[in-house]
Amino acid sequence: MTVLIVGGGLVGSQVARILVERGERPVVMDRAPQRESLAAILDPAGYELVHADVLAPFALSQAIGAHGVRAIVHTAANPMLTAGAQQDPYAAIQLNIMGTVNVLEAARIHGVRRVVVSSSSVLNEYLAGGEAAGDLTLEEALPRPTTFYSATKQAVESLGLNYARHCGIEFAGMRYGPVAGPWLGAGGGEPTNLFRRVIEAAVRGEEALIPAMSMQWVYSKDAAAATVLALGAAPLANGIFNITMGRMVTPEEFAAALAAEFPGVRTRIQAAQAHAAAHRPAAIENARRVLGYVPQYGMREAIRDYAAWLRARG
Ligand SMILES: NC(=O)c1ccc[n+]([C@@H]2O[C@H](COP(=O)([O-])OP(=O)(O)OC[C@H]3O[C@@H](n4cnc5c(N)ncnc54)[C@H](O)[C@@H]3O)[C@@H](O)[C@H]2O)c1
Repeated sequence: MTVLIVGGGLVGSQVARILVERGERPVVMDRAPQRESLAAILDPAGYELVHADVLAPFALSQAIGAHGVRAIVHTAANPMLTAGAQQDPYAAIQLNIMGTVNVLEAARIHGVRRVVVSSSSVLNEYLAGGEAAGDLTLEEALPRPTTFYSATKQAVESLGLNYARHCGIEFAGMRYGPVAGPWLGAGGGEPTNLFRRVIEAAVRGEEALIPAMSMQWVYSKDAAAATVLALGAAPLANGIFNITMGRMVTPEEFAAALAAEFPGVRTRIQAAQAHAAAHRPAAIENARRVLGYVPQYGMREAIRDYAAWLRARG
């Protein structure tokens, strides 16, 4: 089965790596491929790279037809996710919503059986309202997204589930928590880059600035492993899966995990948001039950793996 991975960044590169390690030859399609960053994750000989834009439906169609694609993993994203979408809502709406619709339509036309799309745990957090407690006779029955990024992710999930309901496509929406993991180039959102600065500071022996909020991280290798599980699981049940480490990580736990890998590391918890409220962790039972997802990386394992990768690269 040939898998097309749209977006070869932080998450897409790890999905490709897992598929290559399984003996498959995936196709990675990216508007601006970061070849050096990709080569730091997986051997360029193991996959096909297509330099194309998901907003160009003919290029997408061409890639699917030329490579006999049977399943699609869609991870393309605007730079800086939530912050990027607040700065340029139109670009984010276009890429996140129309990019996904292009993928779903192309899948429908070409008879691609399964589409796995990146959603986000922002849908567990950036919502407000719903005071009518689900009473559909009232206008504010359901909570609404409070950022452009979360609004696009809600649309993506709803559209995907309707393609599943009405067009026979098997759809999975992966609600990743903030993703941390090895990647050289630009990519991810603010939390991704924050985590990266912490690890890089520790490796260099500098003071590491720990985020002040409790967060439900996921390591990129776990996010990718869950995504690959979603390619194979049958049936997909309700199709939406929370993918995180399964718990909130407090700033103190983050600092302790860092100290375990870097004894004597100097850490400081960011002052500005020191009293930021913790959210409840998203439930990962659905992913566990339907996909068989069990996170392999807690904070200690994630920091150890990331640091080893950085050290190996000098
Ligand atoms: N990183 C996180 O913390 C996080 C958290 C939750 C959800 N997500 C979601 O996971 C997905 C993957 O995120 P990531 O961190 O790997 O992002 P990333 O920025 O590392 O990678 C995205 C890739 O998509 C490519 N791309 C952008 N526009 C494109 C287009 N029009 N056509 C083709 N390729 C295009 C970029 O060049 C980049 O290589 C995104 O949908 C994101 O919203 C990410």
